[in-house]
Amino acid sequence: MHKTLSPPLTSEFEKDVHKGLTDFPKHLSSKYFYDKKGDRLFQDIMAMPEYYLTNCEYDILETYQHEICQLFSKGPNTFNLIELGAGDGKKTKILLRHLSENKIDFKYLPIDISQNALDQLNVSIQKELPQVTTETLQGTYFEVLESIAKLNGTRKVILFLGSNIGNLLHHQAIDFLNRIQELMTDDDLLFMGFDQKKDPQTILDAYNDAQGITAAFNKNLLSRINSELDADFNIEDFLHWEVYDPETGTAKSYLVSKREQSVRINKIDLNVHFKQWETIHTEISQKYDDQIVARLAKKAHLKIVTEFSDTDNRYKNYVFKKSST
Ligand code: AVI
Repeated sequence: MHKTLSPPLTSEFEKDVHKGLTDFPKHLSSKYFYDKKGDRLFQDIMAMPEYYLTNCEYDILETYQHEICQLFSKGPNTFNLIELGAGDGKKTKILLRHLSENKIDFKYLPIDISQNALDQLNVSIQKELPQVTTETLQGTYFEVLESIAKLNGTRKVILFLGSNIGNLLHHQAIDFLNRIQELMTDDDLLFMGFDQKKDPQTILDAYNDAQGITAAFNKNLLSRINSELDADFNIEDFLHWEVYDPETGTAKSYLVSKREQSVRINKIDLNVHFKQWETIHTEISQKYDDQIVARLAKKAHLKIVTEFSDTDNRYKNYVFKKSST
């Protein structure tokens, strides 16, 4: 009997889409939100009034820039300011400006997977802060961090802003923090943003805005599968749905099928059937409190040095060091 072979699943995207849409319940990873259109939509999200996270972190950096930069510059000699996933650098520039105005010797090393994002950031830094020595590094966070850690003995201050950690489940977050910790020495610092638990309505509004930008961001995942994997998702047949559990602090995003339907994904030779109201889970955005952050830090062998928060405690930046236990 002649059997037609399915095409091999070559890219990670193909494998993950195949796995996620054949699992029960269905799921897709939020890391695939960020194609060109997704990057633009995320910029729009950060500018929305409902998405308080960006403004809160901006206010913290603006208010405490002196204290934060003092902490960074305390320690032996010069340091490398390493940023994981720098984006447009709008918030980081507050610190870069303060450090350079105070004649502190440091080098800025933004790391990003996207060379395009790094090029844009480099151009804007050259224009606005030409005195800051910048070296952009393209690659995954750990590839680049590992080579920096191996390369030299220069002290490291690692930035991870935007509550990006919140897109990881707790066990993944511990693993992520622990891998960073393993690449730190005793003099190094880790400066990270963690969105805090708050009025559940505020959180729901941030992830289900009135203009529908977040809905477009979530649904863009299906458009991406259509264009990159030759599929026929009808985007209008899916609903963006957000839930927030105030007990666990987990916000979850779903795409919900409004009707029974079948979708064909040619490139991975897959037919996907959806019952009416069946879901695809696409993202978690974890919210924290001091107790949760302390637990994550302890499990990752980090200790909290200090923290900075906005006036309403909606958002916090914590400073960590390697712990001896
Ligand atoms: C990138 N990340 C921290 C954002 C968040 O808040 O989870 C992504 C996002 N998803 C919907 N709105 C913003």
